[in-house]
Amino acid sequence: MLTIQRLDETSVQSFILMMAPGLRRSLLERKDEPGQIVLGASFWGQPAGVTVIHIGNDGAQLTDLYVLPAYRQAGIATALLAAAEEEVPRAGVGKIQTHYRPNEHTPAFERVLAKGGWDPPRAEYWLFWTRCQCGFNPWLTRYHFRPPYELIPWREVTDGERQAIAQRGAAGWYPSNLNPFSRPVDAWDAETSLVLRYQGEIVGWSLAVREAPDQLQVVIMFVDPPLQRLGRAFMLAGEVFQRYCRGSSEADYCYCRVSAENEPMLRWARRSFEGRTVDEYAEWTSQKVLSS
Ligand SMILES: CC(C)(COP(=O)(O)OP(=O)(O)OC[C@H]1O[C@@H](n2cnc3c(N)ncnc32)[C@H](O)[C@@H]1OP(=O)(O)O)[C@@H](O)C(=O)NCCC(=O)NCCS
Repeated sequence: MLTIQRLDETSVQSFILMMAPGLRRSLLERKDEPGQIVLGASFWGQPAGVTVIHIGNDGAQLTDLYVLPAYRQAGIATALLAAAEEEVPRAGVGKIQTHYRPNEHTPAFERVLAKGGWDPPRAEYWLFWTRCQCGFNPWLTRYHFRPPYELIPWREVTDGERQAIAQRGAAGWYPSNLNPFSRPVDAWDAETSLVLRYQGEIVGWSLAVREAPDQLQVVIMFVDPPLQRLGRAFMLAGEVFQRYCRGSSEADYCYCRVSAENEPMLRWARRSFEGRTVDEYAEWTSQKVLSS
């Protein structure tokens, strides 16, 4: 007999080794993770599978879905997903998404999503990973900005300049996914989040998040289109990598996530990272609108 229950800090312990390693720590330490929902499936009382959902500002994310090999192909993941879809609207959220990197389990996972009526999966982003020890391509670091160009930390941008960026953004200067205001100012890494000024006007930015002492994600890179043709985006990327790798001694991994639909940016990233990547892959996504 299959039972599915919402797990608390105590009952989750029998399921913990089924969860992705990155999710285990807070549960082992019995720290309350706000917005985290964990459901466990048991077959005749034996832990058989688990799913983890995170409720955040962007909605609900299916972060993990796992069934022990001996219990697979018996509908347990399908039942866990259905239970998750019942929990999410109770948190006041009407949509659930998942993001994943394809592997040998993907055909089964995508079949589970299809059975649950999720949207057909699609590649959403490409991720390009490099490490400081891989070095930089020469065209990224050969040239340096000189006056009338000026590089300043994002945190030093004045209120007036922020307003001007927002106004130009509203008029279509940059696409919404390159909006520098998508996160609060102090969410961006102080050392590597930079703004480019040309003759006193802001003409580009590169904003990054330090996800761990040894890991930087360059989230947004934008340069005014006329300057892109002059290679200014390469120079900006070169500055970011150099500041990151020459900054803290712990700096190691650096990656950027590029929309799979943004062909020019994909070409740019492939050229920037050419021969220097340690990993490059597409991140897939699917979602389902739930009745709340
Ligand atoms: C993906 C996973 C959760 C599925 O668990 P499960 O309990 O076996 O799933 P279900 O039994 O509910 O459904 C599996 C479906 O996939 C199908 N399937 C299994 N292997 C398949 C394959 N190689 N190709 C196509 N379909 C496949 C099954 O036939 C079944 O569909 P059906 O009911 O139409 O026959 C399980 O394989 C797993 O834990 N994998 C490792 C973790 C993982 O990758 N999770 C997903 C990302 S978080």
